[in-house]
Amino acid sequence: MATGTSLSQAFPLGSRLNERGRLEVGGCDTIELAREFGTPAYVVAPEDLRARARAFLQAGRDAPHRDFHVVFASKAFPCTAVLRLFAQEELWCDVASGGELHLALRAGFAPERIVVHGNAKSEAELAMALDLRVGLIVVDNFDEIDRLERMLADRDPAVGGAGSEGQPVLIRVTPDVSGETHEKISTGQADSKFGFAMAQAGEAIARLEGVEGLSLRGVHAHIGSQLLGLEPFRAEVAELARLGDFPVWDLGGGLGVAYTADQPAPPAIEEYVSGLLRAAHGHGMGSARRLLIEPGRSLSANACVTLYTVQSVKSNVSRWVAVDGGMSDNLRPMLYGAVYEAQVADRFGGQTRCILAGKHCESGDVIVRDALLDDPKPGDVIVTPATGAYGHAMANNYNGVLRPPVIFCSEGDARVVVRRESFDDLLARDVPEEGSAPDVR
Ligand code: LLP
Repeated sequence: MATGTSLSQAFPLGSRLNERGRLEVGGCDTIELAREFGTPAYVVAPEDLRARARAFLQAGRDAPHRDFHVVFASKAFPCTAVLRLFAQEELWCDVASGGELHLALRAGFAPERIVVHGNAKSEAELAMALDLRVGLIVVDNFDEIDRLERMLADRDPAVGGAGSEGQPVLIRVTPDVSGETHEKISTGQADSKFGFAMAQAGEAIARLEGVEGLSLRGVHAHIGSQLLGLEPFRAEVAELARLGDFPVWDLGGGLGVAYTADQPAPPAIEEYVSGLLRAAHGHGMGSARRLLIEPGRSLSANACVTLYTVQSVKSNVSRWVAVDGGMSDNLRPMLYGAVYEAQVADRFGGQTRCILAGKHCESGDVIVRDALLDDPKPGDVIVTPATGAYGHAMANNYNGVLRPPVIFCSEGDARVVVRRESFDDLLARDVPEEGSAPDVR
């Protein structure tokens, strides 16, 4: 896929610096966006999301593998407009909770294109999945098998959603393969909270095959996230193939992305898909098999930038540039030590070394520790690219800070698809005490 951008690899496709030297995303001037919609704001180029979705699908066709499906891991950007776009592009959707399932349905995913995950699915969540007869439930542990067995025994097969063929399920295993990534987002190791260890897989498969109302179709694994090498994915396929022959294989997500200009370029989508499918074909997962992958980050991260406004600049030992957001809109630097780049939106290429800090009441609230900015001043708009995965998803109200809007920008038009929170939203779940004083504002 051509990058189509003259900026760093981290920015959305088609972004550019316009004649006034200002960052443009989806044809919209980010300084004007900041003025019109306020900051912080997530600015998304839907064309970028579409291009990546199409690149994944095309790579599958080129492999070629006919029965290949791209399942968006909705946790990466659980926003109706994003999900709807991917539904229109004919992706599937993976959900890891009842809430994500609700979002996926409301965004237009047909239940048969939804894959339900979770290491601690509640009975209510499993009931939702069975009622809908989702495409696949990925079974994680023996207790879940017991729970499903009990629930199905109580259901009329015709009404319970399982139908005569049974509810299709996969078994999740941890193939004991780990890629190079942060320990908190590594999931393929044997001692993981997710899935069955390889040594237990045989027993789990036998148990699942014996449950009336379930139809075991195959195996799922997800070895980790933000993986920048392809070797662990090939090792994953080789390990999974040891479990036998199945009609469906779900190889998970995990392809890493570029967060900064200097980072080595991650494998291209085409390279990743062709490498993975070649490995699958080489291990007996040939054209008669259904192959699924579950990219999250690599579909959405680079489609979005966050805009902030500088509130204060001060120098003590370092130069501190404080903006109007931080760990409420991007927890990744604090949780995983993730490194982002930052620019002044109308003066790219600065050389002043600064610490880009958020507005929250703790020292850990640093968005970029080593930012090179062009003499930032209060009122300047700062942009951090590659915030489209796990930014909006993990946003929160720490310090009563309002969660930012999501703005789609395409061909020069800006459309708010998620509005900014309001102070009243912070009170929306309060249950007034009986006889409490009326609102006197
Ligand atoms: N499939 C399963 C079963 C997963 O658990 C995940 C991510 C994915 C697919 C998508 O992985 P991706 O392609 O996005 O790497 N909050 C962390 C990421 C946690 C990922 C959890 N599972 C972060 O911000 O880096």
